[in-house]
Amino acid sequence: MKAVDLLKHITEVPTFKKFGRVSRVVGLMIESHGPASSIGDVCKIHVQSTTQGHQEILAEVVGFKDEIVVLMPFTSLKDIAIGCLVEGTNKALEIQVGDELIGKILDSMGRPIDGSILPKGLISVQTEGEPPNPLTRPPINETLEVGVKAIDGMLTVGNGQRIGIFAGSGVGKSTLLGMIARNTKADLNVIALIGERGREVREFIERDLGPEGLKRSIIVAATSDQPALMRIKGAFTATAIAEHFRAQGLNVMLMMDSVTRVAMAQREVGLATGEPPAQKGYTPSVFAILPKLLERTGTNEHGSITAFYTVLVDGDDMNEPIADTVRGILDGHIVLDRNLANKGQYPAINVLKSVSRLMNHIATPEHVAAATKLRELYYTYAKNEDLINIGAYKRGSSAEVDLAIQYEPLITNFLKQGFMDPVSMEQTVNELTTLARGGM
Ligand SMILES: Nc1ncnc2c1ncn2[C@@H]1O[C@H](COP(=O)(O)OP(=O)(O)O)[C@@H](O)[C@H]1O
Ligand SMILES: [Mg+2]
Repeated sequence: MKAVDLLKHITEVPTFKKFGRVSRVVGLMIESHGPASSIGDVCKIHVQSTTQGHQEILAEVVGFKDEIVVLMPFTSLKDIAIGCLVEGTNKALEIQVGDELIGKILDSMGRPIDGSILPKGLISVQTEGEPPNPLTRPPINETLEVGVKAIDGMLTVGNGQRIGIFAGSGVGKSTLLGMIARNTKADLNVIALIGERGREVREFIERDLGPEGLKRSIIVAATSDQPALMRIKGAFTATAIAEHFRAQGLNVMLMMDSVTRVAMAQREVGLATGEPPAQKGYTPSVFAILPKLLERTGTNEHGSITAFYTVLVDGDDMNEPIADTVRGILDGHIVLDRNLANKGQYPAINVLKSVSRLMNHIATPEHVAAATKLRELYYTYAKNEDLINIGAYKRGSSAEVDLAIQYEPLITNFLKQGFMDPVSMEQTVNELTTLARGGM
């Protein structure tokens, strides 16, 4: 550091600490007189625990009421009492990042969940960040292999593309994410598990991701029992970690399961701070943080973050407010269909309802032509399926429907894939073009 910079640093260092005192606790919120702070600042609340002695509880400034600072804690409210000291840090939440995090499972504050200490040599980054400038974002023009036939073949994903996976519970989201994490050609996975039950987190890591997948992944887990603020921060922390590796020029894969739970956590915070409920009880701040979060991924001048965000849809209602907002922000959506899962067609991707908005720009013309042809045949079959099933369709009435009937089992067979069977993009495209040419 140059002497001038150093001097500037010294003059700017606060020479005194700012303190306040807890005056009231209402529900999940802590009110305090002081310290002088701004929204998003982290404060340390000093408490005296009967069992553990002096403790610091971290909380974030979420609002003001007249002269009073309103804080929300990252952990439980236990041991907070009237008069507790509230120390301002004048900084937003920071986490430590570096290569050493690869293979680790972290909490929303970037600390290893197993209680181990983070290695030295990591650097501090803020969890809140700005999306890349739209003018310096390179366009997406390369495909990214994810190793899932239905996606690589029919819904090709670009390096830096952002896609939503829309599904009800138990239709195969976690299994699909695990498959992508193990098979993809991305350099590294960052996986945020938000609002899942503890058992699901363990199942995902042990069964869906496996030791091979974990070796090339960083996991951030905020389970459903954690305070709302931790569940929100989990999403921001994972995004900040992905950004750190993108800045090094890597092609990162970010997966967030689920962005609906992040929205629900923000709704909890919004309602607790007195926001009015708007659509389906979701408060306006929910619709404000979604683009702030989802626009941070994608490409920038250094590298890329390809992102998969899962969205829970109850009873296939794709128009519920969160699904609708998320779909509008992203560059594609993959719909998992319970009917397919019930039939045992896995991964249960409904290709007719799914779209990759970039496929036509990035895949080869032969690949696009083959995928379009199969999609049309599949669509023709789906449109006439009821007639065919009740025997009301007579073979020979339409050459197109006849061909669709002949193709349907072949396409279905092409789309099926065991969750432990990786298939390369090359193999997928070969199979697809052969199938479209009439070779079976
Ligand atoms: N690719 C697959 N192959 C076979 N079974 C699958 C596959 N994907 C999902 N399943 C079945 O569906 C169940 C639920 O899947 P999961 O990925 O946990 O769903 P979600 O995360 O959407 O709740 C799994 O336990 C498994 O039995
Ligand atoms: Mg799951």
